[in-house]
Amino acid sequence: MIDIFGSFPNSRPRRLRRSKWVRELFSEVAISNKDFIKPFFVIEGSKQKQKITSLDDNYRFSIDLLIEEVKKARDVGIQSIMLFPVIDHKLKDHFGKEAINEDNLISRAIFAIKKAVPDIGILADVALDPYLIHGHDGILNEAQNYVLNDETNQILSKQSLIMAQAGVDMLCPSDMMDGRIGQIRKILDKHNFIDVGIISYAIKYASNLYGPFRDAVNSAQNIKNSDKKNYQMDYRNSNDIFKEVKMDIEEGADAIIIKPATFYLDIISKIKENFKIPIITYHVSAEYAMLKSAAKDGLIDFDKVFEENMIACKRSGADAIIHYSLINSL
Ligand code: PBG
Repeated sequence: MIDIFGSFPNSRPRRLRRSKWVRELFSEVAISNKDFIKPFFVIEGSKQKQKITSLDDNYRFSIDLLIEEVKKARDVGIQSIMLFPVIDHKLKDHFGKEAINEDNLISRAIFAIKKAVPDIGILADVALDPYLIHGHDGILNEAQNYVLNDETNQILSKQSLIMAQAGVDMLCPSDMMDGRIGQIRKILDKHNFIDVGIISYAIKYASNLYGPFRDAVNSAQNIKNSDKKNYQMDYRNSNDIFKEVKMDIEEGADAIIIKPATFYLDIISKIKENFKIPIITYHVSAEYAMLKSAAKDGLIDFDKVFEENMIACKRSGADAIIHYSLINSL
């Protein structure tokens, strides 16, 4: 970097921090609800609202009530949502059959929301964990200890097609199988869904921060003591991030997701520096839950720390953030 910085006493950096107006004038990062994507959990039935104890202020809603919630989110400036279905245990199996049922819960939810709130962007997760008895993101080998890649991809492609038919705007494969983006793009194009986008979770670490989410979708008891390390990324590594992003972009991803957020800001900035592509980061369930419980214990002011956290994500290079808070004031 060119040395353009003076030294004291000619230079006094505090001059630019002296008053609010000057701080505002030169602030590099701004956040607003337009940058945020709000996840919602959908359940069967009507007039159903279930509290998610591990995720403060978040609920599982039946489709009718969810529509009202989506309208409320839109009214405070949220322009896009991400949908996760909570599947009845009776419908879970070893193959993900319900994921490719055209009339499944997520398809009905996408269709109904698109109809009731057409201007909201609908993103949906592509992965089989809500549908599988063991809670993994793909189908297992006979020994039940390894997720099969190519077999899983075939189901993910069909799952994607069904959500496209229901009217989804963007599909977000979060399963971490190799080669799934290309296959999903191919099946979408073959059926003329050329405008349905793919935002891939190109970088998803095998993090310990997904617990409250697994509670929310009732997969925690399915996954039990198992982990997802044979497909999600090893958080000791960052060399493989470039390869993951390059592969997904070459296969047809329109944008990427990096997940989790706060412990991975180095990863976000490395990708931003090396690829000029839109980046979303996912501030995951335990990141939110940790802040909530620290606030409950009186240790932090939630709104202020949350804002600082969102700013940090954007400053590191994220263009948008998926998170669980509904902030009215932004
Ligand atoms: C599953 C999926 C997970 C999350 C989003 N999609 C959980 C997992 O990988 O086990 C986690 C999100 C969060 O913790 O908020 N494909």
